[in-house]
Amino acid sequence: MYSSVGPAAEVLQVDRVAIPKPGPNQVRVRLSFSGVNPTDVKSRLGAVPRDIAEFQIPHQDGAGVIDIVGANVDPARIGERVWVMLAASDSVYGTAAEYCVVDVGLVRALPESIPFELGATLGVPAVTAAHCVLGDGAVAGQVVLVHGGAGGVGRCAIEIAKWAGATVVATASTDAKRAVAMSAGADHVFDYRDESAVADVLAAVGPVDRIIEVNLPANLEFDLGVSRPGSVVACYAADGDDPVIPRRRLMTANLTLQFMLLYTLAPAALSAAVSAVESALADGALTMPPVRFFELEEIVAAHEAQEGGSAERVLIRC
Ligand SMILES: NC(=O)c1ccc[n+]([C@@H]2O[C@H](COP(=O)([O-])OP(=O)(O)OC[C@H]3O[C@@H](n4cnc5c(N)ncnc54)[C@H](OP(=O)(O)O)[C@@H]3O)[C@@H](O)[C@H]2O)c1
Repeated sequence: MYSSVGPAAEVLQVDRVAIPKPGPNQVRVRLSFSGVNPTDVKSRLGAVPRDIAEFQIPHQDGAGVIDIVGANVDPARIGERVWVMLAASDSVYGTAAEYCVVDVGLVRALPESIPFELGATLGVPAVTAAHCVLGDGAVAGQVVLVHGGAGGVGRCAIEIAKWAGATVVATASTDAKRAVAMSAGADHVFDYRDESAVADVLAAVGPVDRIIEVNLPANLEFDLGVSRPGSVVACYAADGDDPVIPRRRLMTANLTLQFMLLYTLAPAALSAAVSAVESALADGALTMPPVRFFELEEIVAAHEAQEGGSAERVLIRC
């Protein structure tokens, strides 16, 4: 938990608090794993200012078993295996703990065949990816370009786009990351820093229909180079400086730039993305990424690992 924002080693500590009780329309989850994402690091750093009452238990994503339900929730759900999303978005009880309480709409059933470890990797990355890939409708038969195909979101985007029937071309900067993107099912993977990368994409798949964009300022020229009139660039990240928007060239290209933030997604869009994740999961299309495990007591190291930018997802055993 933390009670002020700042570097991991300065503000994160392991402590005991009273086990929370679920309120109306909430459940309590005995957590098995907590997933660490860039958004958790940004929250802990105070990137988006937010008042902290007494403490904040970090992390949006996790997986475990419902052990108590609040009023208005079917008691038959006690004992259900679930994956948890957005636990800390409006609550002090994030998933970096033995228990969290969350609104019942933020826990989804985890099929028996799916390990808790995979369940804890879904939340932010998979739901974001599902919206970016499928937010305008079906992509079957289309060509989808996923930048950063080894990233948390990018790898899910590859799996979801392949599951949805698209041809997928991805980018990544190292051999190890390209291997991750290939193993997720990408048909082609290129190094976005290669001078020939735009030509390589065009030679492999022709102009692309949809681009899942992790770094618009860096890739706008690339995206213009591989697009055709009607292509959509779905942007989900905002690190670094804002891009300069070349209006005339974007107009001429008839390129659509769109942006999304999970926390403020319209309820219907969020619900559609979650449903897509559930369907892909049920079909076995979402698989375990490379993971580095930590204990709860190692939360500082876990956050520092997430900040290190490796291709491994970071999970904490609860
Ligand atoms: N809008 C939302 O609701 C939302 C939801 C989820 C995540 N995000 C944000 O999205 C970003 C990524 O999240 P994540 O969980 O996927 O992080 P991640 O696991 O750290 O992956 C980010 C990936 O981006 C790649 N990358 C960086 N610059 C690139 C470029 N110019 N072209 C192609 N790939 C590039 C990196 O690969 P290389 O090392 O190969 O460059 C890395 O694999 C974070 O800033 C996060 O906060 C936003």
